[in-house]
Formats: sequence, structure tokens, C-alpha cells
Amino acid sequence: MSATPSTVTAPSAMLRIRPLTDHIGAEIEGVDLSRPISAAQFQAVNAALVAHGVLVFRNQDLPPAMHVDFSSRFGPLVGHIVKRFSVEDFPEVTYISNVKNDKGEMIGADRAGMIWHSDMSYMERPMLGSMLYGVECPPEGADTEFASMFAAHDALPESLRARLNKLRGIHDYPWHYATYLSHRKPLTEEEKAQAPPVTHPIIRTHPVSGRKALYLSEGLTRSIEGMDEAEGRRLICLLTDFSTQPAFVYRHRWQPRDLVFWDNRSTMHRATEFDNQYRRLMRRTTIQGDAPF
Ligand code: SIN
Repeated sequence: MSATPSTVTAPSAMLRIRPLTDHIGAEIEGVDLSRPISAAQFQAVNAALVAHGVLVFRNQDLPPAMHVDFSSRFGPLVGHIVKRFSVEDFPEVTYISNVKNDKGEMIGADRAGMIWHSDMSYMERPMLGSMLYGVECPPEGADTEFASMFAAHDALPESLRARLNKLRGIHDYPWHYATYLSHRKPLTEEEKAQAPPVTHPIIRTHPVSGRKALYLSEGLTRSIEGMDEAEGRRLICLLTDFSTQPAFVYRHRWQPRDLVFWDNRSTMHRATEFDNQYRRLMRRTTIQGDAPF
């Protein structure tokens, strides 16, 4: 195994980029997100996102207004389909949380994203990226894992890549919700209507770098267009397992005040288990992307 690449500095932006693994993840040092970032910093962060897929900013003061300010530098924000999970006065910011309000109701999406997925891949124009901020984090468990879909694509045998190149995955939120989120109130007909199934190419081209990435997930890709449902599902699960082998994964151990920014065009992620005696309160924004090609 090669050594993890070393830190680079972006002098005009006054920040440092420290890669966390060979294939995915970098920590960004020298940026204060409690204030608007400069144009040079924006460019350096954007380039680092495309190169590393996941960026970690530690020790950030990030009230919801600045969370929105920083996220919206990268594109328009898209709120969660389930509106009751939004942060008060900030419809574009969603709570991911196991915390209940005075009425005993969950204030946010509970046990969200515990199966590999790319955020809102079930939209015609899925998310460019997401930013998750740790307000309260359990002392153990509740890590988030990220997988490089560039690395997965590059490691596939050429013959399989050629076959996958012609296929489209069916991404389906109501199916995902019924299959993995049965502990929640069912989706309303109105919520379901916002997310009819869509298809996307299984191999997509990153719109900035031109690199090819696998684009599917066990959690949100129900099956494969034109294929028997069960056979398509088997191939999706096989490719998810292949893509999440340890060499392609960065596992983030949360501390309060961490902000993690990931590129949904080239990564998948999943939340991991934790003891529900601990409070977990996270805030997330999602940034509109382009239709995959
Ligand atoms: C998500 O899937 O966006 C949330 C991940 C997490 O809560 O760790």
C-alpha cells in the first residue's frame, strides 16, 4: 500500500489540505467558517472537494445562517422532502437527530442514511454535495463512512465496466423509505409524489474533473432498468460491497463542531450505529447538482 499523500498548501487561499487516506478524504486547516470565505478560499475548497471527495473542517462555529451561507456558495440548496425535519426559520437546513421535542416527537431524521447511499440520488438532478455539522455527538459510535466511487470504478475489470456503461439504475425514495425506514411515520401521498422513481447511468462522468465514477447504492438504487428486478438488485449489492472495501473508505469519527462536506457525485456514505442513550444532533444542507451523464 502506498503512503497517504502529504499536506499541500494553497498559498493564495491561506489554507492547508491534508489527505486522510490514499483515495478519499482530506482535512482542511486554516479556514474560519463563521465568516464568509474569500474567493480564493472558495476556489481552493471547491478544487479539494473534487480531488478528495470528502473534506473535514474541525472546530468550526457554524450557526445555521453561516451553514446556509457557506453551503450556498456551491449552488442552490434543497430542503428535505419531509418538512418537519427542518431547522426553525431555515427550511434548507435539516436536522439528522434522535432528539425529541417537548411533545415526544423526533425533531429530525432519526436513523437516517444507515445504508450506503448518495444523497437524494432519486432526484432528476441529484445533489452536488452535502454539508453535515456536528452539534452534539455521542462519545462513541455514530461514525460516518464514505467510499470513493472513483476508486471503485477504476478498480473494476474492463469487461464489467464496458457492461455497466450501458446500464441505468432505478433510484426510488418511496421504496427506500418503505424498506429501511419503517420505524418512521409513513410518507404522505404528497411526499411520495415529490419523488417518483428516476433512472441514472450506473457509470457517471464527474462534471468538473471528467473522471468516471460508479453511481449506484444499495440504499437508494432499487434495481437496474431492463433487468429482472432480483438480478438487478443482486448486481447493485455486489457492486456496493466491492465499492466499500476498506481501501476505498474513510471513516469519520465525529467531534462536536466538525463540519464534513462531501461530493455526492463521486462518493457514497452511510451512518453507523450508536447507543441511543446518547443524544445525536447534526445539521445538514444539501446542494443541488446536475443531471448525471
Ligand atoms: C446522511 O446520510 O446524510 C447522514 C449521515 C450521518 O448522519 O452520519
